Amino acid sequence: MKLYIVGNWKMNFSVGEASVYLHKLQQKIRTSKEVGVIIAPPSIALQPLTLQLDPKKIKLASQNGNYHDFGAYTGEVSYTQLRGLVDYAIIGHSERRYLFCETDKDIRESVAAAIRNQIAPILCLGETEVERTFGETRDVLRDQLVGGLSQVAVEDLPKVMVAYEPVWAISTTTSAKIASPDDVSDAVQFLRQTLTDLYGATIAKKVPLLYGGSVKPANAGAYLTIPEVNGLLIGGASLIAEQFLGIIETAKRVAS
Ligand code: 13P
Repeated sequence: MKLYIVGNWKMNFSVGEASVYLHKLQQKIRTSKEVGVIIAPPSIALQPLTLQLDPKKIKLASQNGNYHDFGAYTGEVSYTQLRGLVDYAIIGHSERRYLFCETDKDIRESVAAAIRNQIAPILCLGETEVERTFGETRDVLRDQLVGGLSQVAVEDLPKVMVAYEPVWAISTTTSAKIASPDDVSDAVQFLRQTLTDLYGATIAKKVPLLYGGSVKPANAGAYLTIPEVNGLLIGGASLIAEQFLGIIETAKRVAS
């Protein structure tokens, strides 16, 4: 399967800085059939960036969206409004779940709304440190996966990507908190098995499974060579062109 390198810019860069950064990336990225590159800029930058984007090199994702189509939802942007601007949407990121109190219902409705608007969901899930300590990782992953996909028909499943992001391993430099390849391997194998139980093996193996959490050029290769890992969701390192490009190059080496 193709590998996907996704950069989640979170709430960083002004619109002008985003434009300069994209220009720099596009100059240096060499296209590859085996590696898909996706960036998720802040929503305010999405429309301006479409004017300079080379979609053969990079695709756009939103970091979030509202599942209602239109209406009295102050401050929100819907998947209907994002339609045509982005190819992908990050949904259910732990920062949305825990800082902005998004519920399981918000997430499953968002996955359905994205698909309805021709946007491929990147469904994020992962356990917190407390859940891990109590041995609840698999229960959390199963609940978040089954919940997030509960409105997805079999024929739509190949449009979905699933990103395993253990909350305790996000944005850390503490080595004890960096997920080991074994941690990631256990989780993605469990996710693949759960998808197989839900949808059957043929369809389940079409779903790219990504890993995210403190990925850097130095550890990207170790994650990308885990069987069942089909890509990476990168926060901090995606904001530094040299690092993001380095990870893309690693993915190309692993894919070839
Ligand atoms: P970091 O790569 O900064 O740990 O962020 C991971 C993440 O949350 C990507 O969505």
